[in-house]
Amino acid sequence: MSQQEPAVRGGEPAVQTDSPEQWERETEREVEAAADCIRRGEMTGAGSGVAKQFEDEFREYIGAEYCLTTDHGSSGLASAYYAVGVGPGDEVIVPTAGYLGAYEGALHMGARPVFCDIDPETLLIDPDDVEEKITERTRAICAIHFQGRICDMDRLLEIGDEYGVAIVEDAAHAHGTEWDGQKIGSFGDVACFSLQATTPTGKPVAAGEGGIVTTNNREFYERQLAHCHLHRKGATDEFTNPEYRKLDAELLGKKNRAYPPALAVARVSMDSLDYRNEGRIAYRNHIRDGLESVPGVRVAGTYDKSDSGGLYAGMRVIYEPDELDGLSVERWADAVQAEGVSLSGPGLAYMEHRRQIMQRGFDLWGHDRGPLGGEWCGLPEFEGYEEGDFPVAEDMDSRTFKMPTYIDPVDGHADDVITAFRRVADSYESLAE
Ligand SMILES: Cc1ncc(COP(=O)(O)O)c(C=O)c1O
Repeated sequence: MSQQEPAVRGGEPAVQTDSPEQWERETEREVEAAADCIRRGEMTGAGSGVAKQFEDEFREYIGAEYCLTTDHGSSGLASAYYAVGVGPGDEVIVPTAGYLGAYEGALHMGARPVFCDIDPETLLIDPDDVEEKITERTRAICAIHFQGRICDMDRLLEIGDEYGVAIVEDAAHAHGTEWDGQKIGSFGDVACFSLQATTPTGKPVAAGEGGIVTTNNREFYERQLAHCHLHRKGATDEFTNPEYRKLDAELLGKKNRAYPPALAVARVSMDSLDYRNEGRIAYRNHIRDGLESVPGVRVAGTYDKSDSGGLYAGMRVIYEPDELDGLSVERWADAVQAEGVSLSGPGLAYMEHRRQIMQRGFDLWGHDRGPLGGEWCGLPEFEGYEEGDFPVAEDMDSRTFKMPTYIDPVDGHADDVITAFRRVADSYESLAE
């Protein structure tokens, strides 16, 4: 037990370094890969060259039947909503502790996002609340695997089967993760990954901008192709559905193909994916286990069939004021930060029901048309959300913090972080004064 004076009261901070990461991005390899593409003049195109190579490699890595790349994760998600048949007047259930990019594709197809609450243990979509929100208009459920923590896929797929509703997995943060020993994207209906930003702080596979969609469902794959891969090499021959075979090379006119030099960079990032994921998960687990005996704090949990987490945008730690006699969240956070811990928050990143358009509605297409206005296309009038609609998410938002995870931290860093939290817990009575 640490008896040392807390840093907020003048003691020596428990964590002495603010740059503990030793892993280095393979910048030169990325530059070379992109430059090779540029030299070859491979700056556009789909269904051939580096784009096809990357799709084949990713499909094989995941163990999915089909893989399609897109220009962004969000356009991949849009193609997935199109694939599963989302259209005007439908509803798509998505957690409020989510992200606009997870469902904007459905919104712009005329579907209404219907928010649900989260599980307070995992901070992920709550399957019980999903069931409460299902109506005859529900066409899809969006399962966001936030920061690489995996949603309860067994429950969600059961619900999907029971109600005839597709599960669209937003795996923007979850490349290489598993559920019950199977890679995310290798089972279920359709999974979408983002390639946004650069390693190590960007998406687990990072290429600047880009997206990937995997599915085992041939019809979904063909609908995605038709939706957004204008002029993809061989697309019309690839279709098995006779209706899509009749399309001309411009398909349905949308062009959301990936940029080949970006995919060349993504291929480099793939080489270190498992190493980076393992490092981050080990770091997160070390801290999670160490904090088990520290009052007042816990690391966001995971379901038994998947132990990943902290793969993008850090790990989530939750303050439990009841365990420290109600010490305020501000005092607790100030004391932890003073110990040198890179703790930011509180907040769950985004709370979708607090958006202006979700509280007040919005005349999306003018002339009082669209899913966020008056009665339209079989949808009842949009009532708008308000504070108090999602008690669990709102509570967790007020006391959940973000901490970075490291792939290859300097020795002892995770232990120093645990010491910092312990020191704060040990001295909480003096912190309240
Ligand atoms: C949870 C989530 N879903 C979807 C997206 C959209 O991905 P992209 O930025 O590649 O369009 C992101 C991007 O940050 C995200 O974090």
